[in-house]
Amino acid sequence: MDIRIINGPNLNFTGIRQVEIYGAQTLDEINAHISATAAGLGAQIKFYQSNCEGDLINYLQSCYFDGADGIIINPGALTHYSYALADALAAVNIPAIEVHLSNLATRDDFRQKSVVARVCRGQISGFGGYSYILALMAIIDILKSQEEEK
Ligand code: DQA
Repeated sequence: MDIRIINGPNLNFTGIRQVEIYGAQTLDEINAHISATAAGLGAQIKFYQSNCEGDLINYLQSCYFDGADGIIINPGALTHYSYALADALAAVNIPAIEVHLSNLATRDDFRQKSVVARVCRGQISGFGGYSYILALMAIIDILKSQEEEK
């Protein structure tokens, strides 16, 4: 199972910015926890982060050409307005789960809408770094069910 963990703008500042909202764990610490969990579950993980919308789209397209099985994506603020990112997720047609560190339901009005949600299997929001762990378990389950249906 080739699973890609993709983080968008400002997620590299996790642990530095607004720790009361996003938590004190750095992205490297979160990724280390994901790697350890994935190893126990037999999944192969690759990480990618970019602050640039176009680079994220290029990376999603590279996931398609690499034959990646699953995507876990925190698009940061692009969640709320990037139709281009949503189009890319639809185009590659790889099962994807949207994650957020913070609980979007409790935040600003502009964060109440996700334009990528409709091209993802589901959304996990509000559990800090643990959102990614929950998403990892969900994507593994989706991929196993897909395998069994074949
Ligand atoms: C975020 C939520 C977004 O609204 C925000 O722009 C981010 C982080 C989260 O993980 O909680 O950059 O995606």
